[in-house]
Amino acid sequence: MPSLQSEPAWLESPATAFDSSLQQPIQTSERIKPLQIGKLTLPNNLVLAPMAGVTDGSFRLLCARLGAGFTISELASAKAITMKSRQTIDMVRFQGQARPYAVQLFGADPKIMARAAAFIEELQICDAIDINMGCPVPKVVKTGAGSALMKTPELAATLVKAVKQAVSLPVTIKCRIGWSENSINVRDFVKTVVDAGAEAVTVHARTRQAGYSGTAQWHHLEGIKDICGPVPFIANGDISSPEHVSQLYERTGCDGYMIGRGCVGKPWLFSQLLGHDYFLDHKIQWKIFRHHLIDMLMEHGPTAVPLFRVHLFGYLKSHANAARLRHALCNERNPEVVLQTGHDFFST
Ligand SMILES: Cc1cc2nc3c(=O)[nH]c(=O)nc-3n(C[C@H](O)[C@H](O)[C@H](O)COP(=O)(O)O)c2cc1C
Repeated sequence: MPSLQSEPAWLESPATAFDSSLQQPIQTSERIKPLQIGKLTLPNNLVLAPMAGVTDGSFRLLCARLGAGFTISELASAKAITMKSRQTIDMVRFQGQARPYAVQLFGADPKIMARAAAFIEELQICDAIDINMGCPVPKVVKTGAGSALMKTPELAATLVKAVKQAVSLPVTIKCRIGWSENSINVRDFVKTVVDAGAEAVTVHARTRQAGYSGTAQWHHLEGIKDICGPVPFIANGDISSPEHVSQLYERTGCDGYMIGRGCVGKPWLFSQLLGHDYFLDHKIQWKIFRHHLIDMLMEHGPTAVPLFRVHLFGYLKSHANAARLRHALCNERNPEVVLQTGHDFFST
C-alpha cells in the first residue's frame, strides 16, 4: 500500500460511500497486521473501543475511514433489542457501511442475549457480536451484566455458548482484569470464556473498582496470550501512541490493540499507527473536524452539537486556552460557532 498522495474524497463530501483502502497498513509487521477472528478477516488489528456516548455511527465511520480495522457499537441492551426499541436499534444500525463492525450487547439472561443476537444477525448490519463483560455502571452491574460477570464466570460462559448457538457470526467478549484489586481473576476468567467458545478476547487492563481512573495495569495482560492460544487477544487501556503499541506487543505478545480515549479528538491516530502521515497536517485535520461535525448533524439533527462536545473538547485539548474555551462552549448549540472555533484552532 503506497503512502497517500491525494486527498480522499470524503474530506470534502461527507456523504461519500465508505472506502476501505486506508485500512491497509503501509507495511505489515509483527505488531501491525491483518487479524483473523473466526471466519472474519480484519484488514488490520487496530480496533476502535466501544464507548457509550462517543462511538456513534459518525465516529465509527470516521475512524474506519482513517484506518481502524474494526469498530464496535456503543453497548446496547439485549432486552431493549428484543423489545425492538427504535432508539437502540438506530444506535447500532447507523453508518453500518463502515466494516468490519461488531454490535456490542449487554445482558445477563442467556435467552434474551441469544434472541437479541439472532435479531441483530437478521438485520445484516454487522460482522460480529461482542458481549460486554466490563461495563462498571451501577445500572448495568446490578442486573448481573457488564463487569458483574467477572464475578460469575460460569454465567459468562453460558452467555457465550447461548449467543454462539443463536448466530453464525463470530462471537467475541470484552472484559476487565477483575472486579476489584483484591479479586483480579482475568486469567481464569479468560480461560473460561475461551473454553466456552469466545472467538476473540479483549481485556481492559483495569478493575471494575478502578472505573476509568488511574493507569492501566498492563502487567496483568502478560501471559493472557498463552491462555487464549489461537484465539485472538486484544489489549486495551491507555494506548495513544506508536510507542504504546510497541511496548504492549513486547510485554504481552497481543494480537491486536483496542483504542478508546486516545483517539477522541485524534481520530487520525489510526492512520498514524498504520504509517500514513498524511493526516498529521493541520489543514487536513481541520477538514476532518469539519467532516466529523457535519456527519454528526446528518446522523443526529439538532442534538448533534451537544453530542459533539466530547469530541470538540478532545480536538481542542492542546489549545493554549483549552480551559477557557471549554467553559465558553459548554452550552453552545450553534454549529457555525463550533465550526469557526475549530477553523481558528487548526489554522494557528
Ligand atoms: C465514555 C466511555 C464510554 C464507554 N463505553 C463502553 C461501552 O459501551 N462498552 C464497553 O465495552 N466499554 C466501554 N468503555 C470502555 C472502553 O471501551 C475502554 O475499555 C476504556 O476506555 C479503556 O480504554 P482507553 O484507555 O483506550 O480509553 C467506555 C469508556 C468510556 C471512556
